[in-house]
Amino acid sequence: MLVLAMLCLTFLGAQPPQGGGARPAPKNLKILKPDDVMRAMQGYRVGLGVRCDFCHVQSDFASDENHHKITAREMIAMTQQINSHFPPGEARVTCYTCHRAAEKPLTAPPAGGPPPGR
Ligand code: HEC
Ligand code: HEC
Repeated sequence: MLVLAMLCLTFLGAQPPQGGGARPAPKNLKILKPDDVMRAMQGYRVGLGVRCDFCHVQSDFASDENHHKITAREMIAMTQQINSHFPPGEARVTCYTCHRAAEKPLTAPPAGGPPPGR
């Protein structure tokens, strides 16, 4: 496995620089593990229906200047806490569970929507 990783690194290192190149190691993680970052980020993007710059100052992913990133960090902790109450296994509750691809989840049915129970 390690050998494979090193081979990959050698291979990537041999590529000419292009569109961003290899990502630098994360330097401002308070919750996520480095290996989980990119998969998690895709989940947030899809879960909230936003782009990366909804939470991130452009071109500085480590920065905490964008207040949406601070809220998101609290939401990550909250979601982990919720999942800790389930029996061990896959995560049951994700960002999408509440957000459904919206920045702010609905907390009540939309006006004029279907009555409860239908
Ligand atoms: C809903 C908000 C949100 C969205 C959308 C989002 N991120 Fe993040 N991102 C975060 C939070 C919060 C952290 C810090 C996590 C932690 O502290 O463990 C983070 C951390 C990162 C880091 C690590 C930075 C460092 O050096 O510490 C990278 C890289 C990153 N995000 C890239 C992306 C990319 C690329 C996208 C789009 C595909 C994206 N993010 C979308 C909230 C978001
Ligand atoms: C249990 C339901 C629930 C889950 C799960 C959840 N959220 Fe939220 N989130 C909310 C609610 C409700 C709000 C709106 C709070 C408000 O209006 O002040 C919100 C608001 C937010 C906001 C602020 C949006 C804005 O427009 O300012 C961000 C960012 C966010 N959530 C990120 C996340 C991320 C990332 C995840 C997954 C790690 C997540 N949320 C999971 C319920 C949830």
